[in-house]
Amino acid sequence: MTTIRSKFLFTGLAAVLLSASLPVLANEAYVGYRQKIMAAVGGHAGAIGAIVKSKLPEQDAIAALAEAVAKTADTVPAAFSHALHEGATDAKPEIWDNMDDFLTLNDAMRKASLALADAARKGDPAVVKKAMRDFSKSCGACHRSYRKPKEESYKQRR
Ligand code: HEC
Repeated sequence: MTTIRSKFLFTGLAAVLLSASLPVLANEAYVGYRQKIMAAVGGHAGAIGAIVKSKLPEQDAIAALAEAVAKTADTVPAAFSHALHEGATDAKPEIWDNMDDFLTLNDAMRKASLALADAARKGDPAVVKKAMRDFSKSCGACHRSYRKPKEESYKQRR
């Protein structure tokens, strides 16, 4: 009998806890998800940077890595559709006041990554260099307005 009663009690308690914490958990999961998307963009861009800077014999990989960034950019609008700017995130609240601008900057990154892929395939070093510069600038253009600077990053608080 007691076990049945405590089972009921437990189920009730679990239901209350779950209903109270689910939205918060979902928000945290969303923030974590979009940070992974950005980390993926950063990983691909970092690999391209390593090839170019250290002149690694991996020129053929540049186009594939740049195209992966373009594909990843397609997931950004939905990932940032929830106005979550509290807690462990460096996303500035201004994103959700200026969503059109934010999405335009995302599209600029997408186009710059496709231009870089195209340049890399054609293989003219001067054109690749310029495309590389435009590509890097497309990150900074969005981060400048919509990502907290390092000094204010939640990562400083950990
Ligand atoms: C349209 C806007 C936008 C563009 C374009 C953009 N970013 Fe970001 N990026 C953000 C925002 C906003 C965050 C903060 C996300 C958060 O903490 O919730 C971020 C975070 C990051 C992070 C940290 C991810 C983590 O693990 O927390 C990296 C790395 C990064 N961006 C790299 C890049 C690179 C490299 C590019 C260009 C190829 C780029 N980003 C282009 C908006 C952008």
